[in-house]
Amino acid sequence: MEFSIKSGSPEKLRSACVVVGVFEQGGLSPAAETLNQAAQGYLADIVRGGDMDGKPGATLMLHRVPGLAAARVLLVGLGKESELGDKNFRDAVRGAIKALSERGIAEAGLCLAELPVKQRDPAWAAEQIVLVAADALYRFERMKSKPETSGKSIKKLALVVAARAGVASAEAGVARGQAIAAGVNLAKDLGNLPGNVCTPSYLADQARAMAKSRGLGVKVLGREQIEKLGMGSFLSVAKGSDEPPRFIVLEHKGGAKKQKPVVLVGKGITFDSGGISLKPGAEMDEMKYDMCGAASVLGALQAAADLKLPLNIVGLIPACENLPSGRANKPGDVVTSMSGQTIEVLNTDAEGRLILCDALTYAERFDPACVVDVATLTGACVIALGNFTSGLLANDDALAQELLAAGNEAQDRCWQLPLFDEYQDLLKSNFADMANIGGRAGGTISAACFLSRFTQNYAWAHLDIAGTAWKSGKDKGGTGRPVPLLVHFLAKRAAG
Ligand code: BES
Ligand code: MN
Ligand code: ZN
Repeated sequence: MEFSIKSGSPEKLRSACVVVGVFEQGGLSPAAETLNQAAQGYLADIVRGGDMDGKPGATLMLHRVPGLAAARVLLVGLGKESELGDKNFRDAVRGAIKALSERGIAEAGLCLAELPVKQRDPAWAAEQIVLVAADALYRFERMKSKPETSGKSIKKLALVVAARAGVASAEAGVARGQAIAAGVNLAKDLGNLPGNVCTPSYLADQARAMAKSRGLGVKVLGREQIEKLGMGSFLSVAKGSDEPPRFIVLEHKGGAKKQKPVVLVGKGITFDSGGISLKPGAEMDEMKYDMCGAASVLGALQAAADLKLPLNIVGLIPACENLPSGRANKPGDVVTSMSGQTIEVLNTDAEGRLILCDALTYAERFDPACVVDVATLTGACVIALGNFTSGLLANDDALAQELLAAGNEAQDRCWQLPLFDEYQDLLKSNFADMANIGGRAGGTISAACFLSRFTQNYAWAHLDIAGTAWKSGKDKGGTGRPVPLLVHFLAKRAAG
């Protein structure tokens, strides 16, 4: 979809549809009031008549409103005037986009970027409009034999700002939104692809293609090279499957040569059956999404490259399947990680940490400014935080604060859980340096404790996206999270 910025009076906008916000209890947004004046009170009459309650995201389409250049006016509800926060704003944008797309309207002007959203500015609003619109219009039909949606879709959206002075900030927001939305869509696509298509080799091919199109450095290690590095923990998971593992290294060199890189690590289990500790059958199909950490790292790197962020960034992706077989990990097996620490595999379904730990050790060779790993790591995180908020655990409080702030800015939020030393005892093993599980209680924390033993030499944070990376039920599909969070984090770092 194409975005443009237009400045000027909304009543003069030549368009199939001009979209303006109205509040609960009849208040009109500034743009709606301008239209109302041009239409001699027509809009205020309609709102007074009760046809539009102003609830967030509610819509009312009006045709041939007198005095206006546009063919239609779409009123969209913003909620209470005193409560125009992030959620009501996003709900309104989503409602407007849905109303336009349901009617097959190909082109419209949105007067929403300059609404007074609490503590936000027009650049933020413009970015959010792009992100919410892209999310609302996303479809995944690559595996259908013929397309299901009609060809009629929104082709052009203009963000209308009142004066020329507003154009530059709206443009900046749109540019950032488009780069993030493309990264989100990439992450959604990779997540939605089935496990028989999106294999470790497929992820590697995607990384190579992205490196080529964006001018990134790329290296893909196969089984032998992974063995040579001594990644015994990663390989112990990979060896249960006939599908060969891949270790992907991507580099965006946007910063000065001597600048230490930010390293992003993404869990790339392209299917998690649980292994010998087999998962129950119900909803096991959703374990194709167990590579969403990897997908978000790819999406974030693509956006960083598109935005030409002046920052050095490394992406590391250990990718393999977790399947049961005659060569698979067995409960009780002891494996040796690249760090030299030994691990007793008490549950083969706690495989994410087994592949991440070796990637975290590998990260040391980049002398990182910090390392952030992203993983669909624990079902416990879904119980703790539900599906709106990602889990955050860190050995460095400043880094944790940066990620919390980035998540808030991007409306892709995370929440910190503790990594107190007391929890480390949960990982005691009678037979190895540590066990790979710590029991049911505090499962997200003990998983992060496990990772923390491989991150002693740098500032590190871990995002558990088990509850946020995809949606279940009738709207089943990848969300592309936490690409927006990661891009905001990187952009802030790049800005110094
Ligand atoms: N990929 C799963 C985590 C997961 C489960 C994410 C459900 C989203 C929804 C991970 O590999 C796993 O199986 N974790 C186990 C750990 C346990 C055995 C300690 C879990 O959470 O049950
Ligand atoms: Mn598992
Ligand atoms: Zn898993």
